[in-house]
Amino acid sequence: MSNQSRRIIRAARVVGLTLAWILPLFLCGVGLRETSVNAQEKAAQPRFKNLQVLKDIPPDQLIPAMQFISASLGVECEFCHVHDGFDKDDKPSKQTARRMIQMMFTLDADQFHGERAVTCYTCHRGSAKPVSIPMVDSTAPYVSEVRSAANPTPQARTNLPSTDDVIEKYIGAVGGAPAIQNVSSRVESGTVSFGVGPSFPIEILSKSPSRQAMIVHLPAGDTSTVIDGQNGWIRSPAGPVRDMPQADIEGAKLDADLQFPINVEKAFQQLKVIRTERISDHDAILLFATNASGPPLELYFDRETGLLLRQLRFASSPLGLNPTQIDYDDYKTFDGIQVPLHLVITRPNRTLNIHLLQVKQNSPVDEAEFARR
Ligand code: HEC
Ligand code: HEC
Repeated sequence: MSNQSRRIIRAARVVGLTLAWILPLFLCGVGLRETSVNAQEKAAQPRFKNLQVLKDIPPDQLIPAMQFISASLGVECEFCHVHDGFDKDDKPSKQTARRMIQMMFTLDADQFHGERAVTCYTCHRGSAKPVSIPMVDSTAPYVSEVRSAANPTPQARTNLPSTDDVIEKYIGAVGGAPAIQNVSSRVESGTVSFGVGPSFPIEILSKSPSRQAMIVHLPAGDTSTVIDGQNGWIRSPAGPVRDMPQADIEGAKLDADLQFPINVEKAFQQLKVIRTERISDHDAILLFATNASGPPLELYFDRETGLLLRQLRFASSPLGLNPTQIDYDDYKTFDGIQVPLHLVITRPNRTLNIHLLQVKQNSPVDEAEFARR
């Protein structure tokens, strides 16, 4: 069967399923006006057979409620209902929906003075699976949200390179393992802007293993973000030095790792190629990196060059994950190593746009740069 005829049949079934209820209800209304005796008899009969959480609503409100649920989740009736009976509880999604309806009623009663503040749409927003990580840009939810993403279907896997191929190509693209190993420090300078505002001078000093100081020269004074391999802190022109939250340290360590291409396989217990995706005008391969504990990391490699185009990482919080997206662009070679000169660091509420103008490999970096002061 062609895809199109399959689609048409599916659509017809969905419409049929919907009409199966809308139509009788409509006809029922007509009959009501014509023969009131008949209508009274009908009203006395329970129209629905298996209502548990919506049993107290007027019967004519059930279908609108079902339409609201379908619209909120972006699904058709058959997402929850089997073909031969709306009253049957065969589909787990119907039973989940029942729990959800109860939850919604309880939430609104207990937390919002009985007002209908929270609805299915508040969480679902047109999707069966609500997203729980704030979006960096609102195109698509993160792979990390989709629990089955780590186990893509065999179909999605065809035509994809293996994890080893991706890492090997990445190492080769950056300059090869010996050249990467050879870099013990890097001094970069350029400009940074925050969203649409003006640009300020920035310096990034990195030293193996995993030490980095990022200093921005603001009119009011320097602000720096430092990680010494274990601990991190943030120093601003005014105010005391603040510790970097533990949740951000893992991510900062990744940024500071000059040997990241050869360390990535050691740093994560599981690496999986998930799918290809378009990132601006590049075909990218998404590699999903996880550890038993700690949030996952999404790495997007240019399918053509093998270089890293984007990383998406998450910092744990008691209420949910905080995302950071870093886009890498404008790669140039310095002492045999490819270094991105354009970095865009995006969080849901702010963006750092870094343009590097100078990169020096293995130039001396004073230990004192990483000392807490
Ligand atoms: C997300 C799941 C979900 C979707 C989608 C959904 N329903 Fe339901 N439906 C339910 C649940 C749950 C109940 C039972 C409510 C209760 O227990 O009070 C129900 C009950 C019903 C009943 C009452 C059956 C009976 O006799 O007990 C009808 C009729 C019905 N739905 C029609 C529809 C129609 C028509 C659509 C599409 C427009 C639809 N539903 C979409 C979850 C869903
Ligand atoms: C407070 C947030 C919230 C509200 C409100 C909410 N849901 Fe959900 N719902 C979720 C979350 C989170 C999940 C995913 C749970 C999981 O993945 O295990 C979910 C899952 C579901 C699923 C299972 C989807 C699947 O793929 O099987 C159904 C069905 C569902 N909700 C229906 C509803 C309906 C109907 C309403 C309104 C009556 C509703 N939900 C209101 C948060 C919410």
